[in-house]
Amino acid sequence: MKTLILCGGTGSRLWPVTLSVQKQLIPIANKPILFYIIDSLVEVGIVDIGILSNQKEDTFNEALRFYEKREKIKYTYIDQDKPIGLANAVVSAKEFIDNEKFIMILGDNMYKFSLKKFLDKFNSENVNCSILLKEVENPSQFGVADVLNGKIVDLVEKPKNPPSNLAITGIYAFDSSIFKACENIKSSWRGEYEITDAIKWLLDNSYNVTYDILEGDWKDLGTPEDILKENMNRLIGIKENVVGEIISSDISGKIILEENSKIINSIIRGPVSIGDGVMIENSYIGPYTSLGNNVSISNCQIENSIILDESNISDIDSIIDSSIVEKGSVIKKSTQLRKVSSFLLAKNSLVILE
Ligand code: TTP
Repeated sequence: MKTLILCGGTGSRLWPVTLSVQKQLIPIANKPILFYIIDSLVEVGIVDIGILSNQKEDTFNEALRFYEKREKIKYTYIDQDKPIGLANAVVSAKEFIDNEKFIMILGDNMYKFSLKKFLDKFNSENVNCSILLKEVENPSQFGVADVLNGKIVDLVEKPKNPPSNLAITGIYAFDSSIFKACENIKSSWRGEYEITDAIKWLLDNSYNVTYDILEGDWKDLGTPEDILKENMNRLIGIKENVVGEIISSDISGKIILEENSKIINSIIRGPVSIGDGVMIENSYIGPYTSLGNNVSISNCQIENSIILDESNISDIDSIIDSSIVEKGSVIKKSTQLRKVSSFLLAKNSLVILE
């Protein structure tokens, strides 16, 4: 069965980080969000994977070609002209799907569960569409399904008076009738071709739409807070693995230290994940911190943060906390006599000074 993973969009809530790294490739505990999804597909024998996006094809190709070798997946890149909605994304993937039944997954969601039950149910029933739902405490913040006798009867976006507590999670299974539906709907008030409108079209035209309930964890990672929280959750579950070198340092809690990395005269309190080629000197790295490859840290205190590859942080007096630092960033102390701060920032940057 083919799977279409949606990795387009603008990721505006995560600017400026997503100006250079696509949201789905942001590392959580040093592994891109997208790879967690692919791993859960490989686990149930799905290897034919289409990655759809409207930008950064080269970045996806580079990341996925690497994963293709390791996990033996069959990867296809699909271009969406503009990020104008999930129903438009489906239409863009028509050639890849080639009239087969398929699964569609949002590439910025994290799941901790097995897809097996959902797939077995979809494949054994004579249905055109199945949606994976999750019972939530705050349904008004989600797309919600109204259900009756095991079938979906309506879908409502962020309802004031929710008809159920069943949120739409972002995992769908379709047969080829979804193409007809997506081609027959108009754009919504926000100018997007909505997948919920396409599924409603199926309902209105007497197609069979069913659902399954997700009994596991599901999170939509749209904001910096979501990303940091998920980094914390995943670091709690890491397996200790120290390959790099530790010199005159105090280490406690679980840590991952990849090859060619060095910790010198520092304190590390896990869970912490440290990539390849990292140098940490005279510093404190506190819980829930992920440092990417070739990061350099000296004379700093950092906790609950994600520092991406090639960044360099040195001689900072205050604790760096709850931060996401994009690739190749530099944070250092001013060498001027006057007490100054200098910035070179991108769109929607956020700086909080002590
Ligand atoms: P969203 O989180 O709704 O949108 P976004 O990623 O652009 O983020 P923001 O709201 O912060 O600007 O998108 C959900 C998922 O669907 C995400 O993985 C991106 C993907 N997507 C597409 O692939 N094509 C599209 O046309 C849209 C709207 C989203």
